[in-house]
Amino acid sequence: MSMHTLARCASLLESPAFLDQPVQVGGWVLSVRGGPKLLFLALTDGSATAPLQVVMREASVEVAKLTTGAAVRVEGVLRASPGRGQTVEVHASHIEVVGRVHDPEHYPIQPKPLTDAFLRTVPHWRARTQRMGAVARVRHTLMESLRGYLDAQGFVWVPTPILTDSDAEGAGARFSVGTEDGEAFFGDEVFLTVSGQMEAEALCMALGRVYTFGPTFRAERSHTRRHLAEFWMLEPEMAWATLDDLIGVTEGLIQHAIRESWAKRPSEMALLSAVPEATWLHWAEHPFARMTYTEAVTACQGSGDDAIDRVVWGDDLSSVHEAWLVEQVGGPLVVTHYPQGIKAFYMKPSGDGKTVLAMDVLLPEWGEVAGGSVREEDSEALEARMRACEMDPALYPAYLDLRRAGSVPHAGFGLGFERLLAWLAGLESVKDASLYPRVSGKLAG
Ligand code: 4AD
Ligand code: MG
Repeated sequence: MSMHTLARCASLLESPAFLDQPVQVGGWVLSVRGGPKLLFLALTDGSATAPLQVVMREASVEVAKLTTGAAVRVEGVLRASPGRGQTVEVHASHIEVVGRVHDPEHYPIQPKPLTDAFLRTVPHWRARTQRMGAVARVRHTLMESLRGYLDAQGFVWVPTPILTDSDAEGAGARFSVGTEDGEAFFGDEVFLTVSGQMEAEALCMALGRVYTFGPTFRAERSHTRRHLAEFWMLEPEMAWATLDDLIGVTEGLIQHAIRESWAKRPSEMALLSAVPEATWLHWAEHPFARMTYTEAVTACQGSGDDAIDRVVWGDDLSSVHEAWLVEQVGGPLVVTHYPQGIKAFYMKPSGDGKTVLAMDVLLPEWGEVAGGSVREEDSEALEARMRACEMDPALYPAYLDLRRAGSVPHAGFGLGFERLLAWLAGLESVKDASLYPRVSGKLAG
């Protein structure tokens, strides 16, 4: 029997074509009820949020002893279910035990509440829970939706290297890479990428609209719900784009992601999200609120809250400020025109002598999910800015070279994929948005 002879649970649960037909299905047992005379299994094969009920009369001894987590292959007929909680069920004529659970007492994924913190300790089992299985499917759909949106806008996907010697953010949070034998490999010291922006800018200056989307690494020692050492970042880069163009693409991308998540994974989203669908659709259909950094600071100063009002112009906005600001506007918020002093060297000045053409997108309960800017496209201005930031222009030959031949205005941003997913799926931490989260301290799983 091959995988092609098996129907998927999602099809059996959703498609009327299977009703009263003989079916074969394979999956993992979520729970067992009844006894050998009349046995009920809740089954999942990873394709659907709801379990598929399997009913068997006169089960064999081996089948009657099935436990949660076992893998089975079922043959039977799909029938309308008289019971509550499901519309269809499989009346099984044969159940083959394919993978029994060797030690049922210690199999951790039991049908009882399991905390997210516990589940993080067993990443190899985690996706077998209804919730984390749903997260994995939304993750997939989200990735497809982001790519689909950019594809429709004419962006070319340009995977940029993971092994690199550039420090795109100048943040000093890189992982250095060595070889097992301790011998130099590339000659120069090499790091895991913290951002594909520099390579994406080069490719943008040839292809016009590009994006890089891949694993990104930061040696973040802070343990917060927003930080991973390994995460995925989506970085579009657009020739000729203004700050408004940039905001338009970021907003459109996030709104498209909301719509697609609900359209393609309605049962997963309904299970995961504490925010009602109507609110999501409202956010997807209305422009995000916007304010400048200066307006944001003024608002914080007038908050009347000790923890928030002490911010002064020129300070970075902390996660507490971001959370307060999004709460005030009741949805996603785009903050623009940050002070030059708190932003990266490559951002183009606004012309007021103080701020840069930058934007951050802040999400309810999460704060920053994306950040970007118009890029300084003038080689001399960029070199001067590097020097002012105590950077050595000689370390960035290609980046400066691009500004010396056919340089055009351009802009781009980086979007943290796990943060976007954590927001959409109502997760407590980005650690639950990554299937194998990496954070400092311990490489679990
Ligand atoms: O704001 P960041 O550091 O921007 C850049 O790296 C730019 N080079 C992007 C660009 O313009 N092409 O990172 C962008 C986004 C953040 O807004 C955040 O959502 C996410 O990446 N991010 C992280 N997500 C999880 N864990 C971390 N440690 C993250 N650091 C950044
Ligand atoms: Mg940022």
